[in-house]
Amino acid sequence: MTAPDLPAELTAALNFRLQGRSRSDAAARAALISRTYRDGGNSRAITTEADALAYALARMPATYAAITASLNALREIRPEFTPQTLLDVGAGPGTATWAAAEAFSSLTDFTLLDANRALRALALDLFHGSSRLAHARYAHRDARAALADSEPADLVVASYLIAELGEAEQSALAGLMWAKTRDTLLVVEPGTPAGHARILALRAQLIAAGAHVAAPCPHDGQCPLASPDWCHFTQRLPRSRAHMQVKGVELPYEDEKFSYVALTRAPVARHPARVLAQPVVSKVEVMAKLCTADGVVVAKIPRRARADYAAARRWRWGDAVMEEG
Ligand SMILES: C[S@@+](CC[C@H](N)C(=O)[O-])C[C@H]1O[C@@H](n2cnc3c(N)ncnc32)[C@H](O)[C@@H]1O
Repeated sequence: MTAPDLPAELTAALNFRLQGRSRSDAAARAALISRTYRDGGNSRAITTEADALAYALARMPATYAAITASLNALREIRPEFTPQTLLDVGAGPGTATWAAAEAFSSLTDFTLLDANRALRALALDLFHGSSRLAHARYAHRDARAALADSEPADLVVASYLIAELGEAEQSALAGLMWAKTRDTLLVVEPGTPAGHARILALRAQLIAAGAHVAAPCPHDGQCPLASPDWCHFTQRLPRSRAHMQVKGVELPYEDEKFSYVALTRAPVARHPARVLAQPVVSKVEVMAKLCTADGVVVAKIPRRARADYAAARRWRWGDAVMEEG
């Protein structure tokens, strides 16, 4: 499985772009962009080369880690999947393209599209020295218009995009992305109740259109979680010095919360349960909240069931496991 840290090639490319620039200026820009997001704004606030770099330094490590965790979950369920073509919708600085290239050595053809000129320019700059990504095609267009003209791809990814669209646009885009998906569509959103709600709406729409869920759900039925609960996962990632400086923090790691769904054209053969929270391990038992084909269950694996208990002790939030009784 792929590690959550940025590939060395990408880190080097980002650090190279940071050389000779003021880190405090990058930190101020990143803080402003982050405030814009918190106040309900979007990435239209990113207009210059310096903004794009500040955004990438502050956010790419975490979005990359979340996309990688989602791709790892997909690969675990579908180890035979070897996509050759990728379509990265709302690609921004190219985060999902880097993550997919790391996860799938089979990928040889990369197409990206995004409406933000500054983020596109940065992505192409970062790809420049990469042997696999240097020839990626990157359309500077609105996603809906660009998708209408795009070739279908084996793997289509939209990461942290849907939050930036209105409701009607979300549904239209979901349909268009599915129409361009030859095999698998992966959508990743922030791990908030609103992010999960967007994933659920897209999931329901595309299941009705014939999609099957590969991950995280072990079924294609209705989500059994009821508000205030919501399905999300967390990925820990290391922070580099530049990352800490641009974010103005001292902790050398962070935890990114994310929600995702991977949808496939063909039904998925393996359908294990999914761990929905960090299991509680005691000397008596392991207690784990699992999503199963029959709904959410709280599985209790007693210590006396030695082999099962030993296996359950290794479960982590987000893992796929065979169903427990
Ligand atoms: C939060 S960024 C995420 C970028 C990237 N996918 C990632 O995971 O790092 C959202 C991206 O969606 C793009 N976007 C939003 N609405 C769009 C639209 N209608 N057409 C094309 N791109 C759009 C923005 O320009 C921005 O680059």
